[in-house]
Amino acid sequence: MSRLITRRDFLKKTGVLATAATLPISIVELAFADPTQNFTFAHISDSHVQHIKGNQFVRNWDRGLIRAVAEVNLLNPKPDFVVYGGDLAQLAKKSELDHGAEMMSALNYKTYYVMGEHDYYLDLGEYWSKLFGPHYYSFDHKGVHFIVLNSILTDDEWTYRRWPTAEQRMLEMAGLDNPNGSPFMVGEKQREWLRQDLEKVNKDTPLVVFSHSPLQKIYKGWNFWTDDAEQVQALLTPFKKVTVIYGHVHQIQYNQIGNISFHGVMATAWPWPYPSSYAHAEHYLPKLTVPMNRADPFFERDATGWQFINLANGNVDMHYTLYDNTSRTIAFNKKNGQPEDSSYQAEDERIPPQVHY
Ligand SMILES: [Fe+2]
Ligand SMILES: [Fe+2]
Repeated sequence: MSRLITRRDFLKKTGVLATAATLPISIVELAFADPTQNFTFAHISDSHVQHIKGNQFVRNWDRGLIRAVAEVNLLNPKPDFVVYGGDLAQLAKKSELDHGAEMMSALNYKTYYVMGEHDYYLDLGEYWSKLFGPHYYSFDHKGVHFIVLNSILTDDEWTYRRWPTAEQRMLEMAGLDNPNGSPFMVGEKQREWLRQDLEKVNKDTPLVVFSHSPLQKIYKGWNFWTDDAEQVQALLTPFKKVTVIYGHVHQIQYNQIGNISFHGVMATAWPWPYPSSYAHAEHYLPKLTVPMNRADPFFERDATGWQFINLANGNVDMHYTLYDNTSRTIAFNKKNGQPEDSSYQAEDERIPPQVHY
């Protein structure tokens, strides 16, 4: 049975109600038949720390990360570890990665890092690696096999030849609405590593996979997309319960493909609108089999906030607390075997944009 932590419980335990209500972190709980084995981890993503000049950085992006770190340190019960979901930096500059790492160093926990495209395309992840370690790896924790993939690779030949400098490459790949960038992929080398890694894992072991881009095809125009998603999914299919948790999209998303549940996490920096709201662009949503609410473009901070994630027997329940909107729960419905909103947000349930003084 799962042990649900309600928002009220959490806030009582942390004792920081006023602060916690606006912070963009994810609490992940893995629940087991024997509750003494339950554990939690926290997830922070997409801070986009941006260097302006001298010792100046974009203040809002700094504040989002500083507050998330502070909140994770206050959690009670304490998480076993923290995952950072990628895009720590904006243009992969040493100054940005150093500044981000310094803010992250205030965390009191072991932290695992995922590579984002904004961390990568200046030096192809070299400096990031010095700070945070390998680009892809796996680890086991209390009966769960965790996998971290670098899903933002592209065809190196193509990028090298097209753009004359590393800075140009980074700028081209940093754009959201960017037809010059080729689609992200995990790539053959890493898929082979994953195949070998999974050979050692029992098929009943719950898998949790962290990637930066979604390991599903949502919208190519914004690279909400991984080109070899089907091949990666095929490697995960033999396992009984698989959860993929990804950043990059800066919004709430969820989906179910076969045995794999997909969950996007929110950003500490800013929300992206849902791709189909960009009406002039061709969009392609072939695999989103589950209807869902969309971020509302009239709510500047919609789809940013923080969330509980409860992973019961391999299925995730997400509890989202939004900055300027009503809370939502996306729970795994065992009857139809997919995640779904507990209720849709009717127009009259929306809280108008708040003015903060
Ligand atoms: Fe991002
Ligand atoms: Fe990204």
